[in-house]
Amino acid sequence: MDNLGKINWFPGHMSKAMRKTAEDVKLCDGVIFVLDARAPFACINDKLTGLFANKPIIYCINKRDMISPDAEKRIAEKFAEKKLFYVFSDAFSKKDVERIRAACETALEDRIERDKLKGVKRTLRFMVAGIPNTGKSTLINSLCGRKSAETGDKAGVTRSNKWIKSGGIELLDTPGTMPPNMENQKYARHLAYIGAINDDIFDAEDLALSLIGELKTVAPLCLKEKYGVETSGTPLEIFEGICIKRGFLLKGGEKDFSRGARAVIDDFRKQRLGKICFE
Ligand code: G4P
Repeated sequence: MDNLGKINWFPGHMSKAMRKTAEDVKLCDGVIFVLDARAPFACINDKLTGLFANKPIIYCINKRDMISPDAEKRIAEKFAEKKLFYVFSDAFSKKDVERIRAACETALEDRIERDKLKGVKRTLRFMVAGIPNTGKSTLINSLCGRKSAETGDKAGVTRSNKWIKSGGIELLDTPGTMPPNMENQKYARHLAYIGAINDDIFDAEDLALSLIGELKTVAPLCLKEKYGVETSGTPLEIFEGICIKRGFLLKGGEKDFSRGARAVIDDFRKQRLGKICFE
């Protein structure tokens, strides 16, 4: 379909981060595993969850504001089916952030109850984990009510692990880590589209072409509505149509695919193509 090729992104610092995570999780009572609602199952790094052994995991399906209520319902059903403990969040919504705090208490309610009987009140320690760019730092900032964790738009920006206090909870910020080997390449593509994988490893035009092909299936109307293009053709024909409609042309009338690619990827990521979920 396109030239994106096999996707794998596991820079050296991630291998080190995994080892540190394996150590640090021993200090935690549970894990908040942050996922992007546009591709939640693609965000589950089994190599990471494997490190959490018997610790309770709260799957925090973040960026809920970027998907439709129907998609949210569908995802909720799948998580319930798999008996995973989950909570949806928009990291910028106070109400949602409070729901995460409540979920932390629910996840440890047996321990809290036992402590109560003994007359002890202990701080709950949670590791905040996940692949890059899912909103870990933003959630920590919202939970702590101050700019405590650095956020940014480049995949892999959170580097070293640090503890941050928030009421009766202590959170351990961790760097985003990918699985060393991405077996499910469909998922890998979804992660590339949402910006969880460093864009530098892709040719932008290949990424845009692949994204257009996928959008044709999951949100057939969005490209027509946004760019006024005919979408019955191949992804390349649609891409050409977008460049023409947008006036992305080089001298001599050649299509400026490079500019077109940046526009399509940016429009998708900034939600200008609407609420889109790949799963
Ligand atoms: P990370 O620590 O997991 O790597 O992610 P980080 O918090 O840095 O968030 C990555 C991007 O996702 C940021 O956008 C952040 O604002 C955005 N984000 C986080 N949570 C949500 C959410 O619930 N909904 C939406 N719509 N966006 C969310 P950015 O464009 O990189 O930076 P900024 O310009 O917003 O600061």
